[in-house]
Amino acid sequence: MQALFARSAALSLLLLAGPSCVLWGQSPTGSPAAGAVVTEHPLAVRSGLSVLEAGGNAADAAVATALTLSVVLPRAGNLGGGGFALWVPKEGEPRAVDFREVAPSGTDPRAYFNGEDEVVSSRSLRGPMAVGVPGTPAGLWHLYREYGSGRFSFRELAADAIRLAEEGFPVDPWLARSLNSTSLREKMNSAARAIFYPEGEGLVEGDLLVQSDLAETLQLYARRGPRAIYEGEIAEAIVKELRRTPVPAAEAGTPADGFFQIELEDLSSYEALERMATRVRFRGWEVLGMPPPSSGGLVIGQVMGILEGFPLSEERVPRERGGYAPTPRLIHWWIEAMRHAFADRAEHMGDPGPKNDKVPVGELLSDARIAAARVAIGERADLEVGPWGMELPQESDETTHLSVLDSAGNAVSLTTTLNTSFGSCILVEGAGFLLNNEMDDFAVTAGVANTYGLVGSDANVPARGKRPLSSMSPTVIRDGDGEVRVVIGAPGGPRIITAVTQVLLRLLLLEQGLVEAVAAPRLHQQWRPMSTRFEGGWDPAVIDALEERGHPVSVEPKASFASVQAIRVLKRAGEGGEVERVVEVASDPRRGGAGGIQGQSVSEPSRPK
Ligand code: GLY
Repeated sequence: MQALFARSAALSLLLLAGPSCVLWGQSPTGSPAAGAVVTEHPLAVRSGLSVLEAGGNAADAAVATALTLSVVLPRAGNLGGGGFALWVPKEGEPRAVDFREVAPSGTDPRAYFNGEDEVVSSRSLRGPMAVGVPGTPAGLWHLYREYGSGRFSFRELAADAIRLAEEGFPVDPWLARSLNSTSLREKMNSAARAIFYPEGEGLVEGDLLVQSDLAETLQLYARRGPRAIYEGEIAEAIVKELRRTPVPAAEAGTPADGFFQIELEDLSSYEALERMATRVRFRGWEVLGMPPPSSGGLVIGQVMGILEGFPLSEERVPRERGGYAPTPRLIHWWIEAMRHAFADRAEHMGDPGPKNDKVPVGELLSDARIAAARVAIGERADLEVGPWGMELPQESDETTHLSVLDSAGNAVSLTTTLNTSFGSCILVEGAGFLLNNEMDDFAVTAGVANTYGLVGSDANVPARGKRPLSSMSPTVIRDGDGEVRVVIGAPGGPRIITAVTQVLLRLLLLEQGLVEAVAAPRLHQQWRPMSTRFEGGWDPAVIDALEERGHPVSVEPKASFASVQAIRVLKRAGEGGEVERVVEVASDPRRGGAGGIQGQSVSEPSRPK
């Protein structure tokens, strides 16, 4: 039975115009009052909502939203990248869908070095050796086939994306800013420039971006499924495009047997995989996360597990406006818990392998290990934590995320990426989509420790068929009745993990509102570097108190960490004693995303500052 909407919704919407919206509703059936979609482009929100409104479930809507992102958010939405999705049904087991890119069969880490045994970092960012075998075409198809409602053809779910690619859409200020800043134009290949820089000039806000080749690719994909991309003309176009792309700094010579790139067999053998979601408990909530090759579920799980055993309620101060503020001691614990978990990330996490036995997931989330980390946390910052001598790969800010909840209570949390903004900047001529540079998420130096004197595990060294370690953290929270209460995720490299954790702590521990929790200033601690980074907006007294506890800090007033896309369902007693459910969405004001709830308008995205 569809929910009855209380008309006080109008007032809430007026009060909360901007990056969020709220629905007040009743749902005597035990389901949320209505479905909701939140992601980094309002046109993609619209695609997801129209599927929900036509009777689709969360998986259908997530697929439609992701396909539209592949058209309207070219910096991160994609067909040529990969990602992860958590499917959390109202009834039954949650599933983690892994459509991460795969290293090509010819992968040889030595090819990233020059004749002087120096890493040529541009080779994992640009050129053919930057590109992993894309996973998105298989992943979205898998989500549709396995978990979709069965009420729609894939073509119907792709209809919006195809139309927007074919007819064009107005360039938004965020896309215009990316295209017209820095040296992006120089990085793009000629096929990409022809689309984003017609007549040599970057598109500006309001220009129509038409992507006819992408429209045709989407048509083919919608008709024939992922084989249309992994085999035949499009697969051949990918291989051809890479073959004509120069290897950066190749003239310097290499000790490797040779360079490598994706070949036809790499594409035809790609498969999306199903994995078990990570699960931890935090103050009675169930936290479901993405297992390796993402580090998100494990790091968030460890942080929340470590914190769970501290007397958290004693370190939060009630506020007049409701909810609590954290004390500096509580923030000290957050930071130290993150330091421990990120040290484990660096040492132990990578591709779990075909038998899921290469990352000690059970041990990393075990009570004993988590208790040991907690016991090791004292009243001062401990900068000695972790495996010394290891170097971490740089991770970019890009990627994108969508959260979907349907009115039956099923949820999808899906994060997808090309890695850096616009990926490798190699657009497949004739096919109209950009290829990722996900090979940069491997730690090239870890496997050659002797050459550089670096110590480290080989958990994340590039090798044929391996999936690079990721920070993408699609996350879902269920309550003690097994109902989905939060659907959340973000782009932002390792800042994804810390941003998602902090929003969850503000919601579940500090009982703050969703909009406030998403907008609140963030900090970031990832073990290396040792200092903790702070966005602007923190109380200087908190920073001083942390410094007194020995924390190196870096206050960065202009920094912006991640872009959280979240849905929450609140439960409260209605006037007649029945349970009332309130659905809220919040798209991070740090970027130009939007949220929408079935039957209501889509929120207005923020503009770049
Ligand atoms: N490429 C960013 C990530 O996977 O974390």
